[in-house]
Amino acid sequence: MHITAETALCGIALHPAGHTRSPAMHNAAYAALSIDAVYLAFDVRPAELADAVAGMRGLGIRQLSVSLPHKEAILAHLDEVDETARRIGAVNTVLRRGDALVGTNTDWLGAVGALERETRLEDRQAIVLGAGGTARAVVYGLRARGARVHVLNRTPEKARALADDLGAEGAGGLEELADRPYDVLVNTTSVGLGSDASPVDPDHLGRGGVVLDAVYEPERTRLLRDAEARGARVVSGRWMLVYQAVAQLEAWTGQTAPVEVMAKAFG
Ligand SMILES: NC(=O)c1ccc[n+]([C@@H]2O[C@H](COP(=O)([O-])OP(=O)(O)OC[C@H]3O[C@@H](n4cnc5c(N)ncnc54)[C@H](OP(=O)(O)O)[C@@H]3O)[C@@H](O)[C@H]2O)c1
Repeated sequence: MHITAETALCGIALHPAGHTRSPAMHNAAYAALSIDAVYLAFDVRPAELADAVAGMRGLGIRQLSVSLPHKEAILAHLDEVDETARRIGAVNTVLRRGDALVGTNTDWLGAVGALERETRLEDRQAIVLGAGGTARAVVYGLRARGARVHVLNRTPEKARALADDLGAEGAGGLEELADRPYDVLVNTTSVGLGSDASPVDPDHLGRGGVVLDAVYEPERTRLLRDAEARGARVVSGRWMLVYQAVAQLEAWTGQTAPVEVMAKAFG
């Protein structure tokens, strides 16, 4: 890496910062595309978010990714928030447009990109498990691509509220999976994160279809193994992280991102 006075500074604001693979992905893409930029991880405590945004302005940071716990709180500190980020209710990317800091969201493109490795989405019946922040981005993405969506959650009232807000067809409790055929199933609950648990009874899974687990640690979750045993094509949540970064890079540079380079850098 050759850093000069012209080198652009980009990065990610999150807390804690130790585990993020975003610098590896973005810096690998800059190298592959000969973009004169460097991407760093900034550990930003919640109380310092306003200062961090002011720092982005003052230092001329060109593209800032935003991760937990700042994705919702940052909306209040930006000059503009685009329609997509407003609908999802979260910003994962800040870009400079002239002097303005503009928030957008590419998490939905992460889910769509991961699923589209295996299937087209238009007119497909999709079920989304969970009704938290990740579910909002996934439901938005599935609807944007023309899929029919049903949201199932441990707390069904939250699923109903999300479905009404984002135009999903229906909602209910997790046990309803047993009675609902699907082409595409996406887990956005945190069940399986760092454990070998599944959010659903394996006997409630359908045959075949495409199953994506937003949980990416471990890479092959219990849900993905159960689904594979029933003939599903499965997609790891790691691809969601890769494709949301791909969309961030493309939004900033206008160039086509090197997906395989970024996936390899993710590790
Ligand atoms: N791959 C990616 O790119 C990516 C990106 C973002 C997040 N994620 C992962 O997605 C997951 C969810 O993140 P989030 O930010 O959306 O979290 P969140 O807003 O806290 O939502 C958590 C969801 O999990 C459900 N849940 C929690 N414990 C449960 C249990 N024991 N049984 C059944 N349901 C349970 C909650 O149901 P209730 O409503 O009933 O509480 C809620 O629907 C995390 O594992 C995160 O690592 C992946």
